[in-house]
Amino acid sequence: MPLVDLRDHEDFTANPYPYYAKLRAEGPVHRVRTHETDEVWLIVGHDEARAALADARFSKDWRAIAEGDYEFTAVSANMLDSDPPQHTRLRKLVAREFTSRRIEALRPRVQEITDGLLDTMLAAPGRTADLVDSFAFPLPITVICELLGVPDLDRETFRRLSNEAVAPTENDGTNASMLEMGAYLVQLIEDKRATAPADDLMSALIRTRHEDGDQLSPDELIGMAFLLLVAGHETTVNLISNGVRALLAHPEQLAALRADFDGLIDGAIEEMLRYDGPVETATYRFTKEAVECGGTVIPAGAAVLVALASAGRDPARHPDPDRFDIRRTPQSHLGFGHGIHYCLGAPLARMEGRIAIRTLLERAPGLELALEGGSLEWLPGMLIRGVRHLPVRW
Ligand code: HEM
Repeated sequence: MPLVDLRDHEDFTANPYPYYAKLRAEGPVHRVRTHETDEVWLIVGHDEARAALADARFSKDWRAIAEGDYEFTAVSANMLDSDPPQHTRLRKLVAREFTSRRIEALRPRVQEITDGLLDTMLAAPGRTADLVDSFAFPLPITVICELLGVPDLDRETFRRLSNEAVAPTENDGTNASMLEMGAYLVQLIEDKRATAPADDLMSALIRTRHEDGDQLSPDELIGMAFLLLVAGHETTVNLISNGVRALLAHPEQLAALRADFDGLIDGAIEEMLRYDGPVETATYRFTKEAVECGGTVIPAGAAVLVALASAGRDPARHPDPDRFDIRRTPQSHLGFGHGIHYCLGAPLARMEGRIAIRTLLERAPGLELALEGGSLEWLPGMLIRGVRHLPVRW
């Protein structure tokens, strides 16, 4: 199979959808070169993507195959980088904190944080602001820090390290920012241990380790904190900003939503996840054996990316897929993944997204983009899809 070089397309990051459409028309599975990887298999068809995400022959446990040429740090001892039974064990330890019922109890606090951020943003002189810095970023990070019980997290340091984790700019194998991230989290956990035990998730995880030594190793505690904080940093922010961009680009959809928040907000969030969700491709997998996928054999030991963004635009699954329609039925998408690694934070992300978008639109009636002839800066890499800043006025 020929190697498609995605680096040839300068505008791929700004708008990958036409390229995904072209690839899909040729077949559901391709060999591609990206800015990060010389060769990776890319699954672009919806049905093949869904099947691969639920197929145990696609492993997430990189440490099992890397042959000493990569220095793994503690942060990779997390559930998203594990296969069963390890994955099952790690996920079970925190799953009860993320059920819809537990998350629903956080609703008043999420509303309160939202209101406070909007009070500040909407008081800005000149009625303009960067929606990312003043709203979409601080909301989810405040929520996850409170849930974990690390309200004093050094956000600027963590934001830098977290950005580097999802879109590495240095590919020299030294892994420096991951080592720094590991060291930062060791300190955070030590500080937490030194304070009085509290009724928060991090205290509970530390206790788990103390009470039953073989439950959560020191590395696994670091890996868990890493995964939850990075997921809290990098995803919901782009659900909010990509979602607002989609609504502002489709005034008739925006007007419909404004006229019936109660009836349409849930569907609007699902459509945002399908149409232009925050996670463009799922995280790297590798084949434990040769796997036949959509008529193509992916050899054993190959790196594989599942393009969730492409699956969401597959016309075989979603009629008229490039149309943004908040009343679409049925509403299904792979924006939160599928199978055993299905997003643990989906109920939290949905709740935050619904509250954030609704409250923003209610309080800023004339919201519009304020690009003033400038252009948007896109986040690099194929994992996270979104813009660095979103200037708006109201
Ligand atoms: C709109 C926001 C979000 C989106 C679109 C999203 C998307 C995803 C996706 C696609 C996966 C699967 C990745 C793969 O299979 O390679 C995933 C996994 C995960 N997400 Fe999210 N996520 C969001 C928010 C959150 C939040 C707020 C949290 C919580 C703190 C969270 C925690 C996790 C965890 C822990 C996993 C790994 C689950 C496992 O391996 O079993 N996510 N997410």
